[in-house]
Amino acid sequence: MVENNSESRDGKVTRRQFALGFIGAAGLAAFGSLLSFLKVLTPAKEGSGYVPTVKSGDKLVYAKGSRQGSLLKASDLQIGDAVLAYPKGKTKNVANIVQLIRLKESEYKPPTRVNETDEGFVAYSAVCTHLGCIVGWKRNNKDPEASIIECPCHNSMYDPALGAKVIGGPAPAPLPQIGVKVSKDGTLVFTSGFSGPIGPKV
Ligand code: FES
Repeated sequence: MVENNSESRDGKVTRRQFALGFIGAAGLAAFGSLLSFLKVLTPAKEGSGYVPTVKSGDKLVYAKGSRQGSLLKASDLQIGDAVLAYPKGKTKNVANIVQLIRLKESEYKPPTRVNETDEGFVAYSAVCTHLGCIVGWKRNNKDPEASIIECPCHNSMYDPALGAKVIGGPAPAPLPQIGVKVSKDGTLVFTSGFSGPIGPKV
């Protein structure tokens, strides 16, 4: 008797049903991976928007890498360096993430809030104002002062020395600044809230 590959009359799973089930499971797994990937690129919002909880006095810690969660010290960054950081103990809320940058103090010009920088350190929200990806640092090794903030999703670019003003790409607004200072023990501390709302402005 010839077995029908498309259905089973005796209740057994046919090869075709098995293959379809396998393809379906593989498709679901791939879809799940894609969603996870997109979630990293476009972080989840809190409530109806991004609600930062960082406060003046919070210490900065590394946001990722082998030193994730450790306190940041001024001596960790040279001119032209930058890292992603969170306020200590508030690392679950993506609205709190900042790009901490060190340039020569004399490089900063308005609209940078120069009085909210210290020893060449400046910090901006790391949530892109286009669609909310986390921005990165494009270091110019020949001229560290010419380094820029760049978003990996659609290549928006921000000038760190001019209040993170948009210098390229689709971002519609600068990244909000937040005050930082170097404390007596050399650690970095926030000195204010953000200068404006966090997240996408489109
Ligand atoms: S999300 Fe940053 S450029 Fe689009």
